[in-house]
Amino acid sequence: MRVIITENYAEMSVFAANYVAQRIIDANPTPEHPFVLGCPTGSSPLGLYRQLIKLYEAGNISFRNVVTFNMDEYVALPEEHPESYHSFMWNNFFSHIDIKPENVHILNGNAADLKAECENYEKMIEDAGGIDLFMGGIGPDGHIAFNEPGSSLASRTRVKTLTTNTIQANCRFFDNDVNKVPKRALTVGVGTVMAAKEVLLVVNGPAKSNALRHVIDEGVNHMWTASALQMHQHGVIVCDEEACVDLKLSTYQYFKDKQTLEDVVSEYINKF
Ligand code: GLP
Repeated sequence: MRVIITENYAEMSVFAANYVAQRIIDANPTPEHPFVLGCPTGSSPLGLYRQLIKLYEAGNISFRNVVTFNMDEYVALPEEHPESYHSFMWNNFFSHIDIKPENVHILNGNAADLKAECENYEKMIEDAGGIDLFMGGIGPDGHIAFNEPGSSLASRTRVKTLTTNTIQANCRFFDNDVNKVPKRALTVGVGTVMAAKEVLLVVNGPAKSNALRHVIDEGVNHMWTASALQMHQHGVIVCDEEACVDLKLSTYQYFKDKQTLEDVVSEYINKF
């Protein structure tokens, strides 16, 4: 696993976006061989999306031949609800770039048959040739997508009941009223994310420091589902200093030294 420690949220976002952009450029996607990008929601990736939009506006990158699959969606929340992940993605990313609407895939949390919806989603990912790069964030309890603690690390797309912790964390988007937060979601599985050719997580702020410690310093554990990234061949975590405060000092110094030697931060920050 690579761990890139950046100064702050802005630097983390620029690094992550430039990294993703460079991957898409290197793949030289075509309509026949598109680049398949996995997309998260949440506040963590907002800066990353803003930077990708900037790169698009500056003519550095096009999303014409990019196909996307989102991580998750609430169950029974209307698509047009301002806090649905459909709304989130169009408002914060897709409406600002040249992606073709038919290339966007987001789980339908209002499907009549939720199980069939999930199975079909896995099939669509497979038909697209698998996900080239899955971007993601983590919850304060170390969850990835909506794979709550205790989720199978081999899980695939399915319905999940949200934990009290997650409902509380997300009630800030629903007038701070836990009763308004949907109680279930459709989510790709940990196994779905791990099947991507590359996974890049952005982790920022002190609220994530305990989770980051479990993901990096502790062993692979289903109670901290993002820790499965330790088993991925190409896992990258881009974090800020604040998220690192609970890491062992020796772990923190190890990754700082390593990245200074590679000079990877300045390379990607100054990429475009
Ligand atoms: C939700 C999403 C996750 C996201 C997490 C953290 O649970 N399903 O994909 O990583 O929130 O969100 P934030 O980045 O706002 O802290």
